[in-house]
Amino acid sequence: MSKLDVPVGIVGAALQDEQREVPDGTPPAWRESASLKQVGKSLPRIDGADKVSGRARYTADIVRPGMLHGKVLRSPHPHARLHRVDVSEALKMPGVKAAVVLPHLLGIADDGSAKQGAVNVVRYYGQPVAAVAAQTPEQAVAALAKIKVDYDVLPFVVDPNEARLPTAPKVFEQAVTARGSAGGGGSKDKLNQVGNVRGPKRGAPKGRDVDKQAQQVTQALLAGPQGMRATYKTQVQTHSALETHGLVAEWNRSLDELTVWASTQGIFSVRDELAEYLGIPQSKIRVLTDYCGGGFGAKFGAGNYGVLAALLAKAAAAPVRLVLDRREEHLAVGNRPGSEQSIALAAAADGKLTAIEVKGFGFGGAGAGAGFGGPALSLYDCPAVYVEESDVFTHSGPLAAFRAPGHPQGVFALEQAMDELAERLHLDPMALRDKNDSHPARREERKRTAAAFGWSSRTAAGQGPRLGKLGEIRRGTGMAQGLWYHLVSLDSNAEVRIHRDGSVELLTGVQDIGGGVRTPLAQVVAEELQLPIAKIKVTIGDTRLPPGPGSGGSVTTASITPAAREAAYAAKLALLKELQGVLGLDKLPELTDGKLVGEKAGKPITALPFAQACARMRRAEVLGTATRQPDYGAPNNGKRGGFAAQLGGVQLAEVEVNTLTGVVKVIRVVAGHDCGRPVNPLLVQSQIHGGIIQGVSYALFEERRLDPRTGRLLNGNLEQYKIAGSLDVPKIEVILLEELRGRSSTDVSGIGEPATVPTAAAIANAVYNAIGVRIRELPITPARVLAALASQRGETKP
Ligand code: MOS
Repeated sequence: MSKLDVPVGIVGAALQDEQREVPDGTPPAWRESASLKQVGKSLPRIDGADKVSGRARYTADIVRPGMLHGKVLRSPHPHARLHRVDVSEALKMPGVKAAVVLPHLLGIADDGSAKQGAVNVVRYYGQPVAAVAAQTPEQAVAALAKIKVDYDVLPFVVDPNEARLPTAPKVFEQAVTARGSAGGGGSKDKLNQVGNVRGPKRGAPKGRDVDKQAQQVTQALLAGPQGMRATYKTQVQTHSALETHGLVAEWNRSLDELTVWASTQGIFSVRDELAEYLGIPQSKIRVLTDYCGGGFGAKFGAGNYGVLAALLAKAAAAPVRLVLDRREEHLAVGNRPGSEQSIALAAAADGKLTAIEVKGFGFGGAGAGAGFGGPALSLYDCPAVYVEESDVFTHSGPLAAFRAPGHPQGVFALEQAMDELAERLHLDPMALRDKNDSHPARREERKRTAAAFGWSSRTAAGQGPRLGKLGEIRRGTGMAQGLWYHLVSLDSNAEVRIHRDGSVELLTGVQDIGGGVRTPLAQVVAEELQLPIAKIKVTIGDTRLPPGPGSGGSVTTASITPAAREAAYAAKLALLKELQGVLGLDKLPELTDGKLVGEKAGKPITALPFAQACARMRRAEVLGTATRQPDYGAPNNGKRGGFAAQLGGVQLAEVEVNTLTGVVKVIRVVAGHDCGRPVNPLLVQSQIHGGIIQGVSYALFEERRLDPRTGRLLNGNLEQYKIAGSLDVPKIEVILLEELRGRSSTDVSGIGEPATVPTAAAIANAVYNAIGVRIRELPITPARVLAALASQRGETKP
């Protein structure tokens, strides 16, 4: 180990040098981005032209010789016993080359029966049962109708309130467990399970005793001079990625090897799930993803459709493409679970929090781990914090990790509760946060966003400007904040090759899910080699490359950029050593501004352009490899897992509420965020825009609706399931901190998830400020706004 001086702090606020213990051979620390040439610059995406021109190849673009089309048969019943699935008639249909029954079901909570033979219970409408591969998609659809399935239809429950009743039909007879994915979800704890209720899972901040915290919360709530209690509800949201789930599977029969082109955020997790499911070595599966049109947490594995495609391709001895349609997407590949959260806060008269209590239920269908307690456990400095979360199972499609799992729900409740408390204490919401939140990045973000927004001119609830002919439009403003975590995956490896012609290649098995990871990777390598990014060829999206991290949990750039930089550093050292020998230089030369500089016999040599220098190599190429080191011993002040491990985020929203129609329009959002060192501020901004747009959509429009009488999906499309469109997008202003923490050779954190966490809560607080009546349930539809206004006028609900 050796010692390294690293800059630590917020650039433009407070920056100091600290010393870290680092592995020998670690490259020197970069200073703030203003001192760098490629990193920290808003360069356009290197693959932008490919994307906008249609050259970029997505999974549905893959065509293989002799390729067949797969379609999935899904259960028309939300709950049934499955006796016999007979595909023999389907196999006789025109064009059909294979038909298979799904051996066991992935994606739902595991009651232990999964691997004990064929699937024999249906637990949600749309559950995959079997699949067919045919020469055309139409032939495949026609053949599905010929598959005979004997169902014993059973009573079901899709309404989470009914599911909680002791008389409700049970989703699981046995106690379940649930595996998580890179993006969260999952719940391994041995929890109590009675009927459809599993839990509570009891929580307290890290390092505190749960029982003592529970007691202390109860006492503080009784004693607190000031406080509030309220219950908040959030809906089920589907991921609605632009590109639906899908893959193309092809077997090499002589080698018994499988190649898969997948729309995924984890080529290695797709490989591993297929290997485990099919019982073949990981080395015999290759997964490729050039481009992916979004995942948001639901695209880590091969999924049931992926397994079916692999089985069909094997049975048909031909490649099979199986891409889900939008309805299947809403039905069966995951969602952000709904929730019902009761919050109690207590505070001293000066606004210092004395207790936070969150108790509630998560509604993840046939999936477990629908929690929301993360924000309450970590957002505020409060001596007593206690959380109870339970899953309520229903006969509906299971949850999946979804962009900051649990956090938008948790923050929607907690940050409205804080707003309600601020009002009772006659404190400005910003001031209440300042009193209770010492996170340095968020503190700075509050300061900078408030100034940019003009927060100080805010009026009290219902007192804002009235617009429109009749004064029917009310304006309001609100703020909310959130957190996410600086997470690192050590499955992050990179290789840099410098060729004799001066070309440079970076190879790493990461994948682009839409964030544009190729560009920051090129920037990091270019910075190290002192070249423009156009000189760097980035090759990703193939499990034959050095393993890369899954693109989830906001771990990607935090994990892979240090490996890329260190691989470039190692390749550079190899190049310089080679050239020192060839050119007979006194000491190791250097690369600067695309040129090699050095000394020979005490005198500087004529600077050699990079390509000319490489041409002097005696071997075809030099190579550098690196694997992600754990974060450098980081400062940890002992609180909440250490501030350095927490990412912030503060958003301020301005809305217009039409009191005649109930329509809410978000006019403007000012967002302050931190993600360590932003390698490419333009791409970070793009992530923040996306997070806010998805948050607006969550706040106002999205909701998966099931028919309580049939258990069927009512809005399996993007017409009745509305997501925000371009006219719904507010003016967005991003304020980006550069926060250095001295944790890795690039000091990067992720931004994909934190960007969406506070949005819905900020909008809800702004709606309250506009109309003076609070809406504690998502989505904030015109009907809910009108009902709230009616109750404000003392009218009973229609
Ligand atoms: Mo995410 S929910 O880790 O894609």
